[in-house]
Order: sequence, then structure tokens, then C-alpha cells
Amino acid sequence: MRLEDGVSAHGAAPGEVLVLHGFTHVLAQEDVRRHVMACLSPEEEARRRAFAFPRDRDMFLLAHGVMRLALGRVMGVGPRDLAFTRDAYGKPFLAGPFEAGPGFSLSHSGQAIAIAIARAPLVGVDVEAHGREVPLEAMAMVMADAEVADLAASGGSARRKAFAYWTLREAFAKAVGLGLSLPRNAVSFRLGGQGPAGEGAPAVAHLSEQFGTAGDWHLHQCDLGPDHILAVAARVPGPVAWRLLPIESVLPCAGSVRAPARPVP
Ligand SMILES: CC(C)(COP(=O)(O)OP(=O)(O)OC[C@H]1O[C@@H](n2cnc3c(N)ncnc32)[C@H](O)[C@@H]1OP(=O)(O)O)[C@@H](O)C(=O)NCCC(=O)NCCS
Repeated sequence: MRLEDGVSAHGAAPGEVLVLHGFTHVLAQEDVRRHVMACLSPEEEARRRAFAFPRDRDMFLLAHGVMRLALGRVMGVGPRDLAFTRDAYGKPFLAGPFEAGPGFSLSHSGQAIAIAIARAPLVGVDVEAHGREVPLEAMAMVMADAEVADLAASGGSARRKAFAYWTLREAFAKAVGLGLSLPRNAVSFRLGGQGPAGEGAPAVAHLSEQFGTAGDWHLHQCDLGPDHILAVAARVPGPVAWRLLPIESVLPCAGSVRAPARPVP
């Protein structure tokens, strides 16, 4: 499937959230590496070079290259034509002639990257490698009281749930632009799979009124391969269509090298 399908000249189709996801191993293909390298601005190239480890340089390269390729495709301009700025909290925005363009968000962790794009400013994405050795106590320090209580009652599934809550929170925090400055009880989440038959999407359970009402927010969560978990949050009026695409949609990949995205049970 091509990214252009269903995408208007001025952003993702109304109500649609595009989520590109993939892994740094695509950079093993020389033509792919050259293609994304050619997209970076001089400032991004300087940031890429500043990372000490090759794996971090690759993660940054792929995330920013794919972000430019996808946004450029959505807006009908070349990836290097785009200009970006950041606010005081670090949230990136399109700048100059593109400032009225779509909302977007970027995340990188381990070998995975994800980019979300929507025709709405408040969209955030987070991907985490859930094998990372982060103490549960440290994660609980930024979670809402209701989420911490759920973890305490969850026994062996607490670690997996913690990453599900964590990614939803970071996706939301990026959508509203506050990052880790988001007060921990300003929002709490209900995880997916909590219906009577284990069904149901994740949802905002409680929300401080400055961020709207819980019904304004749409959440999506899925596994990316066996080691990563992804969450997307978007404040979009009306129903949302989540459109998950492998990054190969915007890359000159010869073969399929993707891992499947499957909903978190
Ligand atoms: C945003 C944040 C939660 C990122 O978390 P992370 O899991 O470590 O990293 P991710 O890869 O998922 O996301 C990083 C990307 O988020 C984006 N980002 C950074 N700050 C952001 C913010 N406040 N809102 C939305 N997006 C943000 C950037 O695109 C960044 O990637 P880049 O630096 O390569 O461009 C964290 O960096 C943060 O809280 N930053 C803000 C710090 C802050 O609040 N400062 C206060 C200044 S007064």
C-alpha cells in the first residue's frame, strides 16, 4: 500500500491518523541508507553524528529521514524542503510556509521508530522496547494513582501493563506538548482488552479539564514485533481511522523486511 492512498494534498484525510512504523534493520540496504541520509538537514546530520553509538545514530537517521519523507509525501513537497521549529518544551512543529501543515509526532526506542501524522495539531506517538530494564518503581513515579493501583494488583502481568500505561502516557504527553512535565494525575488510562470478553480499545479514564473531555481523545495501541510496544494518542473530532503503514511505504525497499503490528491483547 502506498502512503498516497487516501491522503489529501494538505494532510492526512479528515479523521485519519497515519502511523508509520518500522525497524532500523532496513538501513542494512545501502540504497535505503543513502535515500534517508539525503533527506536530513545539516542540523539533523550534526545531531546524528553527535551520538556515540552507531545504533543510536541509525535510530535518529531513520526516524528523522522517514518523518521528512512521510510529511513531504503528505504535503506534496520534497523531504528537504520542510522546515521545523520547537517550542520551549521541545515539541516539534512545521515552520515557515508549512506551519499550517498536519500535526505529527516522532518516537524512537531500541531498533524501532514510529511517526504519527494527522490533520489535527494534537497527535502523539510513543514506542518502547519493553525488554528494557526499567524498574517498575521508577515507571510508577510518573503514573496516575489509579494506574499504580492496577499495577499493584496485577502480579505477573504488571511489567507488561506498566509499558502499556507508559506508552499511552508518553503519546498523550507528546500530543499536548508537555512531555514529562505532564502532571501524573492530569490523565489516567484504561488499557485495551478489558471488556467482558477481553476486547476493547484503550481509553482515557480520567482527564483534567484543561485537556478537553475523555471523549475528545482517541487511543491506539499495538505490539511492533515481539520486543516493542506502540501507542498513539490523538485529539480528533468525530471517529478516527487508524492507518498503520510500514515505513517501507516511503522507502525504496527491495524486499519485505517488516515485523507485523498486532493489537495488544
Ligand atoms: C518528549 C519526551 C517524553 C520524549 O520521550 P522519549 O521516550 O525519551 O523519546 P521518544 O523517542 O519517544 O521521543 C523523542 C521525540 O519526541 C519529540 N519531543 C520532544 N519533546 C516533546 C514535547 N514536549 N512534546 C512533543 N514531542 C516532543 C521530539 O521529536 C523527540 O525526538 P527528536 O529529539 O529526535 O526530535 C521527553 O523527552 C520529554 O519529556 N521532553 C520534554 C522535556 C521537558 O518537559 N522540558 C521542560 C522544559 S521547560
